[in-house]
Amino acid sequence: MTAEEFVRRLGEEHQTLLKRLDPAATLTPEVSGDLTVVNLLKVALKNEIEATEIAARWLVTTDDVDVKMAFARQAGDEAKHYRMIADRLRELGFDARGFNPIAKGYGPLFKYLDGLESTVERVAAGQFTREAIAVVKNRQFIEFCDRAGDKGTATLYRDVIEPDERFHHELGRALLLRYATSPEAQERARRAAARTLALAEELQATALAAAGVHHAPGC
Ligand SMILES: [Fe+2]
Ligand SMILES: [Fe+2]
Repeated sequence: MTAEEFVRRLGEEHQTLLKRLDPAATLTPEVSGDLTVVNLLKVALKNEIEATEIAARWLVTTDDVDVKMAFARQAGDEAKHYRMIADRLRELGFDARGFNPIAKGYGPLFKYLDGLESTVERVAAGQFTREAIAVVKNRQFIEFCDRAGDKGTATLYRDVIEPDERFHHELGRALLLRYATSPEAQERARRAAARTLALAEELQATALAAAGVHHAPGC
């Protein structure tokens, strides 16, 4: 099929699957124990640093100028998110200086993405899919912040972070249109996207079981 057809279908499949990450039934969670905006923002710092680093690693291992600059833009945005979230944490009473979100190591999604070597897999997994997941998770997080009465954090996500993540998804779409042009490339892209979604679901299930977290913001 054409790249246009492939990307359109992949996007539609994602929307169907992402509804599973979109727990409408649990959107009125009991906010108890450790499920606080501050703790969720600490999870967000880890996601932002991982997203920054993946994009930075990928930008130095491609010769395609458009791909290089797309990853550079993403790395810059994710680093900006990190700083804005750290600033917000300080306003909320948590000093993120000296806090190392990756002190316990990188997560499974980072490790999977880091192993991807072809551009078509990277843009399918790291941008087109991961960023579509981020948009869904950030919307849930914004609702969580609204319910918790945290206008400042909700506004930061609504006005800056969520639109940036959406833009990263669109960068992924534009590059997929250029790279997913053969049956082989489309198959690799499909597999990488599916694995990313599966990992996101696993991570979400683990977080839900461990801490009742289903709103942790994404990148
Ligand atoms: Fe981000
Ligand atoms: Fe992003």
